[in-house]
Amino acid sequence: MLITFPLAHSPTRPLAHSPTRPLAHLPTRPPAHPSTFFPTFAQNLTQMKLAIVGATGLVGREILKVLDEHKIYPETFIPVASARSAGLPLTFNHHRYFIHTHEQAIAAKPEMAIFSAGAATSREWAPRYAAAGVTVIDNSSAWRMNPEIPLIVPEINAAVLTRNHKIIANPNCSTIQLVLVLAPLHAAYRIKRIVASTYQSVTGTGAKAVKQLENERNGIVGEMAYPYPIDLNLFPHGGEFLDNGYTSEEMKLVHETHKILNDNSIRITATIVRVPVLGGHSEAINLEFERDFIIDDITKLLSNTPGIVIHDDIKNNIYPMPLHAAGKDEVFVGRIRRDESQPNSLNLFIVADNLRKGAATNAVQIAEYLTTNNLI
Ligand SMILES: NC(=O)c1ccc[n+]([C@@H]2O[C@H](COP(=O)([O-])OP(=O)(O)OC[C@H]3O[C@@H](n4cnc5c(N)ncnc54)[C@H](OP(=O)(O)O)[C@@H]3O)[C@@H](O)[C@H]2O)c1
Repeated sequence: MLITFPLAHSPTRPLAHSPTRPLAHLPTRPPAHPSTFFPTFAQNLTQMKLAIVGATGLVGREILKVLDEHKIYPETFIPVASARSAGLPLTFNHHRYFIHTHEQAIAAKPEMAIFSAGAATSREWAPRYAAAGVTVIDNSSAWRMNPEIPLIVPEINAAVLTRNHKIIANPNCSTIQLVLVLAPLHAAYRIKRIVASTYQSVTGTGAKAVKQLENERNGIVGEMAYPYPIDLNLFPHGGEFLDNGYTSEEMKLVHETHKILNDNSIRITATIVRVPVLGGHSEAINLEFERDFIIDDITKLLSNTPGIVIHDDIKNNIYPMPLHAAGKDEVFVGRIRRDESQPNSLNLFIVADNLRKGAATNAVQIAEYLTTNNLI
């Protein structure tokens, strides 16, 4: 079932993650787009006691930005991070808060906790918060493939959520932007096979990877998040290598797509490449459908899908880019064209800010859905 969120105008903001090196040859203003998306952000969270676990990390800080931009200020805000950060100050909505330990956070009795603190922390602590009556929305990979735990992209499958779900998983960033585009196409044309090649931002690996890129650009020798330099380089390596020769990130894309679209019959193969980019993840996607299509219908279908913006005007060099997606909640789609090598096949290019719709925005949307539908 497709959940629709009302359309409204997205604020045009400066890029959130400006590259340290100027990209003078590229246009800096995103093309205007008529259909912009915003989730409801109906302010229901303002009545909540909300804990943000991993509040000092890239995703945690982006959640605070999303809340701030939409003027969603929970009644009680409880920032949590590792023991290293406990007691340190953190500013949100012009107030100074202090980082809590897990024990202090649970004792403060939040109604909801959004976790972005890695899988090990989620495995250990999410059940403890849940046992204390806290509804956990988890950004890590810890619970995503557990059959008891819903894996949610609100526009697609929030309707499965009930009051009994005390741990809810947020999908992987590259999966979210992909399935948002696939869901309407699958409903209309039945997807048989997906070939996905991704170009993933260093922000997908966390604060340490962004630091590595910045250090390399500034000629500083520092801690490495990757086995190789990432500036002026790329590598076909995201996560750990598995016995089947794929990486864990590649297999997440396969398994999570099956789970969210509720269809294991779709054949999916993925190659994930890490690139020296800050603004978001890009995906070159090839789809084979059961049914044939007309390109204009695909474009219309996607442009009418909440959360998707079409950037596809090749005469004017308009296509999705991380430069334009950075700091935005939407998923951008372009280069929509028929794959001329075989029947019923389509190519497209999908870009989204992995810290936004790929993590923070999706988690806040889930939180909003829960409160709006009285599921807490
Ligand atoms: N980056 C993305 O695009 C993205 C997208 C989707 C999902 N995710 C997932 O979101 C999670 C966080 O990613 P990130 O990129 O934000 O990483 P990050 O920048 O490295 O931040 C990690 C955060 O976790 C906190 N933390 C570490 N150990 C903790 C513990 N034992 N208890 C409480 N907090 C702890 C850290 O606190 P300190 O500051 O005290 O160390 C920090 O706030 C990961 O599970 C990641 O897979 C990331």
